[in-house]
Amino acid sequence: VPAPLIAPSLLAADFARLGEEVEAIAAAGADWLHLDIMDGHFVPNISFGPGLVKALRGRARIPFDVHLMIAPADPYLAAFAEAGADLISLHPEAGPHLHRSLQTIRALGKKAGVVLNPATPVEAVAHVLDLVDLILVMSVNPGFGGQSFIESQLPKIATLRRMIEAAGRPIHLQVDGGVTEATAPRCIEAGADVLVAGTAVFGRKDYAAAIAALRGPRRA
Ligand code: DX5
Ligand code: ZN
Repeated sequence: VPAPLIAPSLLAADFARLGEEVEAIAAAGADWLHLDIMDGHFVPNISFGPGLVKALRGRARIPFDVHLMIAPADPYLAAFAEAGADLISLHPEAGPHLHRSLQTIRALGKKAGVVLNPATPVEAVAHVLDLVDLILVMSVNPGFGGQSFIESQLPKIATLRRMIEAAGRPIHLQVDGGVTEATAPRCIEAGADVLVAGTAVFGRKDYAAAIAALRGPRRA
């Protein structure tokens, strides 16, 4: 099994020093930067918007992985693309036309992702596999960092890995929520290839060591 990509979530960074935090996490070897966009409506918390994404874009060269927890999402896709997102992921519950939203993200020249809440079945992505570059399995209910990993999502990750193999396209399988040194190996075992981690990275003093620990011993 190859080492997973690690996408630290900025939600757990020091909000008073975000520019420095982005520089530090990139220097520490983060593969992507995960940016959680929350509207206080789709999820019970408010984070930040495209203005902040744009302000941080120049601080690192790693891909910006934007996770939209907003409804509706469609009116904001262009703003996040213009702000410098490389990947834009949204929840199927964020609007009535998931297929069209994914087409819009593709037309903006960005990679497109679908995010499955813990109770959202895998069938939600079955008919858009030709349009997605990433499937994100939420292993907590979205809205807050620092929650406990929901075990029932492990067989779901394995099922999605089989669906991706059958589709025969390069689609990343990402896990987000409660990913720690303890749960990361189980996500990788189930078939995940990108791990999001907030507190397990930004909550540590040594970001490089935290990232290496999540990648596991596979890393050469
Ligand atoms: C939750 C967010 C996550 C969150 C993860 O709604 O989507 O990205 O920041 O935080 P941890 O890793 O602390 O569970
Ligand atoms: Zn997220």
